[in-house]
Amino acid sequence: MNEEKRIPRHVAIIMDGNGRWAQQHGKERCYGHMQGVEPVRSAIRAAVRNGVEVLTLYAFSTENWGRPREEVEALMELLCRSVVNETPELRRQGVRIRAIGERSAFSSEVRDRLREAEELTAGGGRLTLVLALNYSSRSEIVRAARHLARRAAAGELDPEGIDERTVAEALYTAPWPDPDLVIRTSGECRLSNFLLWQAAYAELYFTPVLWPDFTEAEFDRALEAYAGRERRFGLISKC
Ligand code: IPE
Ligand code: IPE
Ligand code: MG
Repeated sequence: MNEEKRIPRHVAIIMDGNGRWAQQHGKERCYGHMQGVEPVRSAIRAAVRNGVEVLTLYAFSTENWGRPREEVEALMELLCRSVVNETPELRRQGVRIRAIGERSAFSSEVRDRLREAEELTAGGGRLTLVLALNYSSRSEIVRAARHLARRAAAGELDPEGIDERTVAEALYTAPWPDPDLVIRTSGECRLSNFLLWQAAYAELYFTPVLWPDFTEAEFDRALEAYAGRERRFGLISKC
């Protein structure tokens, strides 16, 4: 974290409220998801402008497969289209795209588009954009536990040597610092299975704004609120 300006290194956003936005505008839920693309661009621009290093966006949870088939299909289609359409501009802005979550559940079309986007933007050095897709924090922790158990069973790892760092390194998010700030739109005050391990000491910011109405100014407001927080990490106040 940049101490002087108190800019979070890693911001994670739970982009929620597309369905309610659509309902308020007398439209289908899928229309709300389409309107959720421009705010993604705004969040990326604001993150780059503020010097944030990592921006993680929760775009599709493992639980979201349980939604009506038409909605899931529309989301997959929108995901593919957006990744293809946005990649050139993101590359130009120096944004590196990475996806976390269980990819095997996606169609080969979605997997291919994601891999291409990751490869094409691999040189981006200004911001890492992490897309959480078919992501479940508990599944991620189970997957990490299995990985460590396999290594221990193979004699590569001493169980007594497993510490927080070993676990963190077995998570999808191993390459990046923990989120400093988690933003959730739509007024819901919960994490919905998002970054449960990583957000242990994150500052949480809840806004009633529905995701399709999220703007750069809204991102800046969240950063301002963050700058005013005192992070104590279990210690006592410095002043
Ligand atoms: C967030 O908006 C988008 C996804 C979860 C994919 P929602 O679709 O959850 O919108 P609400 O919560 O129903 O308003
Ligand atoms: C969380 O939103 C998942 C994403 C934003 C992708 P949901 O709308 O799925 O979460 P709940 O159902 O309100 O907890
Ligand atoms: Mg929701």
